[in-house]
Amino acid sequence: MTKSVFIETYGCQMNEYDSELIRSILRTANYTIVASEDLADVVMLNTCSVRDNANRKIYNRVHEIKNRRPDNPVLVGVLGCMATNFKTQLLDDKSLKIDFIAGPDSYKTLPQLIQEVSETGDKTFDVTLSEFETYSDIMPVREEGSNAWIAIMRGCNNFCTFCVVPYTRGRERSRSPESVVAEVQSLVASGITQVTLLGQNVNSYRHGDTDFADLMRLVSDVPGVKRIRFTSPHPKDFPQKLLRLMAERDNICNQIHLPLQAGNTRVLDKMNRTYSKSEFLDLVDEIRCLIPNVALSTDIIVGFPTETAEEFEDTLDVVRAVRFDMAFMFKYSERPNTLAARRLKDDVPEDEKTRRIMALIALQRGIGFEKNKALIGSEQCILIEDESTKKSDQHYQGRTDCNRIVIIPKGAYQQGDYIRVAITDATPNVLKGVPL
Ligand code: 5AD
Ligand code: SF4
Repeated sequence: MTKSVFIETYGCQMNEYDSELIRSILRTANYTIVASEDLADVVMLNTCSVRDNANRKIYNRVHEIKNRRPDNPVLVGVLGCMATNFKTQLLDDKSLKIDFIAGPDSYKTLPQLIQEVSETGDKTFDVTLSEFETYSDIMPVREEGSNAWIAIMRGCNNFCTFCVVPYTRGRERSRSPESVVAEVQSLVASGITQVTLLGQNVNSYRHGDTDFADLMRLVSDVPGVKRIRFTSPHPKDFPQKLLRLMAERDNICNQIHLPLQAGNTRVLDKMNRTYSKSEFLDLVDEIRCLIPNVALSTDIIVGFPTETAEEFEDTLDVVRAVRFDMAFMFKYSERPNTLAARRLKDDVPEDEKTRRIMALIALQRGIGFEKNKALIGSEQCILIEDESTKKSDQHYQGRTDCNRIVIIPKGAYQQGDYIRVAITDATPNVLKGVPL
């Protein structure tokens, strides 16, 4: 009898992608993938530990899954970043009924881990981090959609002091350009025209003499690719060669995610971000000069240890100066093992973190709204993604080249179509439109 598996994914796009790889690895090993935990012999939680205090949530989920079907026992595995970071706690906690644990570089051993635990009943684990594993030989089993994620590199060597990723996902390693191009070609052949290149530090990609700009050129040359995006980059790796290529190529989207993290140079230094406030602003000027209509989004942390109220004003200052199209904003949360956790006291009080994030969100919301309103009356080409999650099942949601969400009424078009729309209305987060 083949075993059936259900995977629940938390966190970032890399985790979503990894779940697609895991589905592929397990199918090859004769497991059946099912769409509900109630149908599964094995439930896997693919976890994240970048920000949330995910532990409690995952502990509760494990208990819930185990207790739900006392007569029909189910195996539960914890995968992903939490697996690497909390291996000892997960294994030592006798009250926690986890059967196996696998870190982000160990997914090829999952079939053995499951078999071992089924045969012996003992907890098993593999959280070894690899310098080489890129899973380039595995074709992910993708959910239906208009976009395909392709991991081109894994890991991170930057050691930003707040970030747990270098510890949970290990060192940087890149896939060969040939394997990436072959994957893009096969996606296009299956009808997918938008690809998003993924990596913890996507623009640090390097394989032999091929750097990120070279890889983007190769992907952009694949016939039939209409939109190419990438995430998440680091501001340190935006050479002119890359910016010029982006400006030149119609199928590379006019959109850059440029994580600021903080606006104050002393705080940036404590974060080990390797740029100052003025260097960041200069880079934005250079990007906008070479790619005039580019949309910029960012990540910002407020209340990093030792950040004063005055230093936080520099973050607001940069946000006012750059006018990002979108921002993901977070309160600092201490992550075990990071340099910040080891060296700095988490000394900004919670209510002060809240005050700062509210001020930042209010500022960014106003900017986003103004930018969206300025688009009313314009014409845009959108790629239809799905039914609108926000409005109703009478609406579709699509995205512009610049990654803005547009809601349109349903009509004689479907997921994966590109259509021209007129923008009729705007909210701080989305645009509304009608097909032309
Ligand atoms: N606290 C708050 N935010 C964090 N991020 C990463 N680590 C932390 C942390 N310890 C944010 C950063 C990063 C994004 C993915 O998550 O802004 O760019
Ligand atoms: Fe974390 Fe910095 Fe690496 Fe991004 S670049 S994954 S924030 S250490």
